[in-house]
Amino acid sequence: MNLKEVLKMADEIVFAKTGQHLDDLQEAIVRGTIQGKKYTKIAEEIHCNESYVRDVGSKLWQLLSEELGEEVSKINFRSAMKRFQVSNSSNFAQGEVVAIGNFNTCGEAKHPPNIPNSHPPNQKTSHQDLSEMPELGAFFDRTPELDTITNWILQQHSRLITITGISGIGKTSLAVQLVKQIKDEFECAVWYTLDEFPNFDKFQSNLIQLFSNSENPDSSPTNQKQLPLIKYLQNHRCLVVLDDVHNLFGSGELAGKYKPESEAYRSLFKQIEKLSHQSCLLLVGWEPPKEVPQLTSENTLIRTLQLSGLDTAAAREILRDKGLAEIDRPEALIHRYQGNPLWLKSVATLILELGIDATDLLLNDTVLLPDDLQDSLQQQFDRLSEIEKQVILLLAKETSAIDLTKLLENTKLLLSDLLNAVQSLSRRCLIEQQGKFYTISPVLKQYLTRSQPSALPAN
Ligand SMILES: Nc1ncnc2c1ncn2[C@@H]1O[C@H](COP(=O)(O)OP(=O)(O)O)[C@@H](O)[C@H]1O
Ligand SMILES: [Mg+2]
Repeated sequence: MNLKEVLKMADEIVFAKTGQHLDDLQEAIVRGTIQGKKYTKIAEEIHCNESYVRDVGSKLWQLLSEELGEEVSKINFRSAMKRFQVSNSSNFAQGEVVAIGNFNTCGEAKHPPNIPNSHPPNQKTSHQDLSEMPELGAFFDRTPELDTITNWILQQHSRLITITGISGIGKTSLAVQLVKQIKDEFECAVWYTLDEFPNFDKFQSNLIQLFSNSENPDSSPTNQKQLPLIKYLQNHRCLVVLDDVHNLFGSGELAGKYKPESEAYRSLFKQIEKLSHQSCLLLVGWEPPKEVPQLTSENTLIRTLQLSGLDTAAAREILRDKGLAEIDRPEALIHRYQGNPLWLKSVATLILELGIDATDLLLNDTVLLPDDLQDSLQQQFDRLSEIEKQVILLLAKETSAIDLTKLLENTKLLLSDLLNAVQSLSRRCLIEQQGKFYTISPVLKQYLTRSQPSALPAN
């Protein structure tokens, strides 16, 4: 999309919502944003107070968020508009007219995204149970990840997708944003967040109930014939998200080993992978099921995404959002906390509340570990098997990355046990691999050396 197109579209959206066209300042903000300018520069060019420009900008993003059905910010503005343009040209029948202001882009009448469309061409009826899906706060970037997963689902028709990563890295938020963007491509969209005691029968009957109501709204539970869940997923094109999927797996075991009571989920996942259908199951959590390979071949319909931190620009928006805009070398802070949005928010809060000088912090190589950050690491550490704990504590003692031979020398483990532990730790995203060498993040190292005295260096 070029600048002219974006301006036209933004103007039409704003006019449809407010009855007024973009004013000069809003137009300058849109223009400057597309040209990659900072607020400071935009304000300077139009001789306006910067905080006023920011204020008008943030109101504009808010208004656009409501209309586009996703969080819009200065960072993702262009890509959000592009997505909106694409989804409007594919989701809705051309020529269908909805009388909302003069909402009309590129000469075709379109549905605004937050007005339900009663007859989208690619849907029979829309059945959704998104009551457990969390609300999204400010959401920055993740455009490449969203594009990749959207492509897997809509173009490659992947059936089983896992999104894994360390706590706080943004898995749930990414999945929410994805569901918002693509749910209308499905007949049915469902979100379940698993708790510590995942009950398959309840999950299955909830889903079947949703399908049964859609097939026969008047049917009472007694006269419904209950088919296995997979039959419904074969008959309806459905997007099912299971969040916190690590709750299916045992603690004290290698990653992704099912608890005995979760075996029924394993069977369902297998059917979803093997049988023919158009539905898609998205598994989100700290670890993937054991049988899902981390490197998937093009020939299977399984895909996996290990989520890493936000890029510097998006992570800076998080710091700015928390009120930590003016520190020196924010990149160093972002790098130290690996662009993990939860860690960055938590550290920014501590810095601000205690009035700590962030520059000193960076010079001293200090890794602050706020309480909530420690809690989230503790939960993940407690789940590890004994051999994984041995290996990760050993890595915490090392000052640089080490290879498997050195790891083997330093543990009393059998080679096969060591390899299983290393594989499991990388599936949990707790260790990093650089070629043949393994290491852990400074945050994890700090946590382990503080909370597990056996991880302190020997000298
Ligand atoms: N792309 C993003 N932009 C802004 N904030 C984000 C983003 N991703 C995650 N966050 C924030 O970081 C925190 C952790 O995100 P969440 O999605 O819950 O992580 P996870 O599911 O991996 O534990 C939340 O407060 C969330 O709002
Ligand atoms: Mg989550």
